[in-house]
Amino acid sequence: MGKIWTIASGSGGTGKSSIAVALAQIAAGDRKKTLLLDAAGPFRTCDLFLGIQSLVTVDLTDVLVDHVKMDSAIYSLPGSPFLSYACTSLVTCLPLDELSELILALQGKFDLIILDLPTGSDPFSASLMKGEDRILLVTRPDPFSLRPCEALMQNYRSMPAQIVPVVNLEDRALLRRKMQYDSDTMSLLLDSRVLGPVPRIPDFFTLKANGEEAASLSWKEQRIFRRIYEGLA
Ligand SMILES: Nc1ncnc2c1ncn2[C@@H]1O[C@H](COP(=O)(O)OP(=O)(O)O)[C@@H](O)[C@H]1O
Ligand SMILES: [Mg+2]
Repeated sequence: MGKIWTIASGSGGTGKSSIAVALAQIAAGDRKKTLLLDAAGPFRTCDLFLGIQSLVTVDLTDVLVDHVKMDSAIYSLPGSPFLSYACTSLVTCLPLDELSELILALQGKFDLIILDLPTGSDPFSASLMKGEDRILLVTRPDPFSLRPCEALMQNYRSMPAQIVPVVNLEDRALLRRKMQYDSDTMSLLLDSRVLGPVPRIPDFFTLKANGEEAASLSWKEQRIFRRIYEGLA
């Protein structure tokens, strides 16, 4: 059975989807059969980051409701044989428990499922999570993102999966002006060692979301995300 890494955050725009895509690319680069499962429904963006939005027409809800074959809702990434993409629904935000059985079936087909949740979502069906699974809580290192992150951490506390806070969008200028916390302070405040920090990266993914070319990581981005990947594995 493959592992599940769930990516969540209490506030929007912290970089859940960007981090989900980057980690999926690192895993697939290591020849792990990886499924990037976009659970944000109409708020999804992973398909845009990957430049496959025009390909995606069938989703896992079609599999559940209309009994479309599972394989037709799973998209292989052109040029990336170990990476696949699926989304829960193209039009609505579904309760994830409805998908539990499908996800269980998918765990048999993949080494790793990276589940990109909508912002602030309720705990993902606890019955699916195991001790070796991970819940990544993505937060900026400022008080406005930290508070919702702490709240979500409480929500997830009873889950068997390990909860790992990941700091994104660190900005040196803001750190210097004490408008952001450094990683040690974040670890102290969250009472848990944080992974990252991922700095604010100019043009991170955004320029490549043109429907023509899948986003690929620069060597510097690879180094940053490999460290996070290894911290989770
Ligand atoms: N480390 C980063 N450096 C620069 N831009 C980033 C970084 N992380 C995320 N972004 C940008 O911030 C925006 C929101 O990121 P996204 O991954 O969609 O957040 P979420 O899924 O949490 O809503 C996107 O435009 C993305 O490219
Ligand atoms: Mg997102």
